[in-house]
Amino acid sequence: MTKAAESLELSINNGTDRSLDRDCTTLSRHVLQQLQSFSPSSQDLSALMNRIGLAGKLVARRLSRAGLMEGVLGFTGETNVQGESVKKMDVYANDVFISVFKQSGLVCRLASEEMEDVYYIPENCPIGRYTLLYDPIDGSSNTDTNLSLGSIFAIRQQEGDDLNHEALDLLAPGRKQIAAGYILYGPSTMLVYTIGKGVHSFVLDPSLGEFILCEENIQIPNHGSVYSVNEGNFWQWDESIREYVRYVHRTQGYSARYSGAMVSDIHRVLLQGGVFLYPGTLQQPEGKLRLLYESAPLAYVIEQAGGRATTGHMDILDVVAKKLHQRTPLIIGSKQDVAKVESFIQNGH
Ligand code: AHG
Ligand code: MN
Ligand code: MN
Repeated sequence: MTKAAESLELSINNGTDRSLDRDCTTLSRHVLQQLQSFSPSSQDLSALMNRIGLAGKLVARRLSRAGLMEGVLGFTGETNVQGESVKKMDVYANDVFISVFKQSGLVCRLASEEMEDVYYIPENCPIGRYTLLYDPIDGSSNTDTNLSLGSIFAIRQQEGDDLNHEALDLLAPGRKQIAAGYILYGPSTMLVYTIGKGVHSFVLDPSLGEFILCEENIQIPNHGSVYSVNEGNFWQWDESIREYVRYVHRTQGYSARYSGAMVSDIHRVLLQGGVFLYPGTLQQPEGKLRLLYESAPLAYVIEQAGGRATTGHMDILDVVAKKLHQRTPLIIGSKQDVAKVESFIQNGH
C-alpha cells in the first residue's frame, strides 16, 4: 500500500471510530459522563433524562403523522387554566409526560401548563423525590400548520414532605432547578439539556430510536443580529420597549425572526446569538409566558450557555414565584443584546 493510501485508510478509520463513539453517546450515558459518577442520585438523573427522551419520542411520533391520523389536529373545545383554547396535541402531550413519569417511580409531582393543580402520583411519593415542571406543547398554535413546536421541562428536587399538597417549594427561584431543557420538533427532533454543566444537544435518530449526541458545551455568541418579538403587540407595550424596537429599526444589521414557538426562536438565538423578548403589556404587565415551566427552564439553558435571561429588572432565575402559573416578562439571549434591551427599560436609551 502506498503512503497516501495508508493515510487515507487511517483517516477513514478514525472518522468511523469518531462517528461510532458519537453514535454510542446516548442521552442517559451522557448524563452519567457529565456527573462522572454512578451514585444513586446520578443514576436517578440519568433515568429521569431518559424518561424525558421517551416522552419526546412519543410526541414526535404522533406529530410526524399528524395529517394522517384522526384526533391529532385541532381544538378540544376546552379552555385551560390560562384561559387559552386547548389543542388535542396539548392534551395528548400532557398525558404522555404523566404516563412516562408514573412508570419512572422517581417523580412524585408534576406541574404543567395544562393542569390547574399539581398532579401527584401517590404510589411514587414515598421514594420519588423529584418534581417535573413542563410545558407539554410550546407554540401549539403552530400545530395545525405543520410548523415547529417544542416541549419545555425542568426537574427539581422535592424539598420538605409536602403533606398538605401545597407544593410551596416549587415557588423557589429557578436556581433550584437541577435539570432543564427542551425538545424541539422541527425538521429533526432535537433535545437540548443542562444539569448545570454546560448545554448539550441531541438529535433523535429515527432509525435507532435514540437521541444521539450532536453538540457539547454549546456557547451562545455574545451578540447576534436576530431580534425575536411579536411586533403585533407594539402599541400594547410600555414606551421603553417601543423605543428599543424603534432603535432596532433605525440601526443596520438587525433581522426579525419570530415563529410563534419560543422553543424554536430561542434555539436559533442559542446557536446564532441575538435576543428573544416577550415583554409585559400595559394591560398584562407580567406578559404571557409562565415563569416555572417556560421562562425559568429556558433561562437556565441560556445562562449555562453564557447568555442572560431577565425580566428587565432582575434575573429570571432569581424570581420567587407567588403562584404556580405565574407569568413573567422575558428578555433572553446574548449578553450584549439583553443588556441593550435592559438599558432601554432602566435608562430609556
Ligand atoms: P404555548 O403554546 O405553550 O401557550 O406557548 C406559546 C408562547 C410561546 O411559545 C410563543 O413565543 C408565544 O407564546 C407566542 O405568543 P403570541 O402569539 O402572543 O406572540
Ligand atoms: Mn409555551
Ligand atoms: Mn403549551
